[in-house]
Amino acid sequence: MRSLDQLDISGKKLLIRVDYNVPLEEGVIKDDIRIRASLPTLRHALDKGAAIILCAHAGNPKGQIVPELSLKPMAQRLAELLGLPVRMAPDCVGPEVERLAAELKPGQVLLLENLRYHAEEQGKTPEARGDFGQRLAVLADIYVNDAFGVAHRPNASVVDVPRHSKMCCAGFLLRKEWDYLSSAMTNPKRPYVAISGGAKVSTKLGIIQHLLPIVDHLVIGGAMANTFLLAQGYYVGASLVEEHMVDTAKVILDEAGRMGAKLHLPVDFLWGTDPKQAVASGTCDAHNVPQGAMLLDIGPKSLLAFGDLLRTAKTVVWNGPMGLFENPAFAKGSIGLCKLIANLNALTIVGGGDTDSMVHEAHQESKMSFISTGGGSFLEFLEGKELPAFTALKECGA
Ligand code: 3PG
Repeated sequence: MRSLDQLDISGKKLLIRVDYNVPLEEGVIKDDIRIRASLPTLRHALDKGAAIILCAHAGNPKGQIVPELSLKPMAQRLAELLGLPVRMAPDCVGPEVERLAAELKPGQVLLLENLRYHAEEQGKTPEARGDFGQRLAVLADIYVNDAFGVAHRPNASVVDVPRHSKMCCAGFLLRKEWDYLSSAMTNPKRPYVAISGGAKVSTKLGIIQHLLPIVDHLVIGGAMANTFLLAQGYYVGASLVEEHMVDTAKVILDEAGRMGAKLHLPVDFLWGTDPKQAVASGTCDAHNVPQGAMLLDIGPKSLLAFGDLLRTAKTVVWNGPMGLFENPAFAKGSIGLCKLIANLNALTIVGGGDTDSMVHEAHQESKMSFISTGGGSFLEFLEGKELPAFTALKECGA
């Protein structure tokens, strides 16, 4: 895939799609990781004498102008990070924006207002998106996609702009995501361990099915594990389970064996009777769950067993917490696993909204080989889906 460093961008105007969909509380940015993640591309562009026009979305205003979802706080934060003024456009298309873009000089940065103030951005068909992509494309000489977080969205700024641009390429972040994630899917060093956590088998089914033939070991944690235990015929008390996924879990258990991948379930748990309780009621073995108990985190024996397995691994991909980590009483398993992975001598790839924030909360981010900035896009990549952003860039010769 063509990336920014392969193009001569001196004196050129770049339209860069970034993912600045950051958590905001009353206009204050709670986590600027996604803005920071765009800096290598922006600094390179500025160093090479390009002018930068950034486009992004925040939340989902569905074509309405919702002032709370303005990108103004992002402009301010970006200006602080770059140490440069960042001009905020009043909209993302139209004559005023075209004038601001035309006046932009090399070394200057303009941030367009929320793309989703226009319903066409998310139009489901080319007709519904109309000429929105074209109106964005005319603002610049080169389109750069650096927004992995929206790579799975067939939005105008992702799929139409490259088709209407004279030249397009991937930014450094998109390229890095592609390189790490595709290497884990196509040419992994072995043993390869995937860890899938979270509440529901139904939301992770696509990932499990895609990864089973690729990985050597699949570790299942979180409330998902309860459904698997139920499928094996064990009692899981009052724990969260997906009854309708029990048969699917049986098939997965069966398939894993046939495909040569070993499936690992927790061997013990921290349990309680109320997800909000401040202290766990105790630990129990997976096959000896107290009457009416809720399994809310993996236990110490599971952590030891997962640790033994992980220390043999050369590639580890992790998505999803091991328990109800929002409650500190049931976060030990997820944090313990996070620290185990951070200290491995292996390629370690982590992604998905909850997992990403957990790694940062545990201050382990610098020890992971790669933390994806994608939420839904990371999950879809692991499901083996071809993401619209990559398809569009490929079709446009990038
Ligand atoms: C994200 O936050 O995962 C991306 O910015 C995509 O946002 P969306 O789910 O609202 O399309």
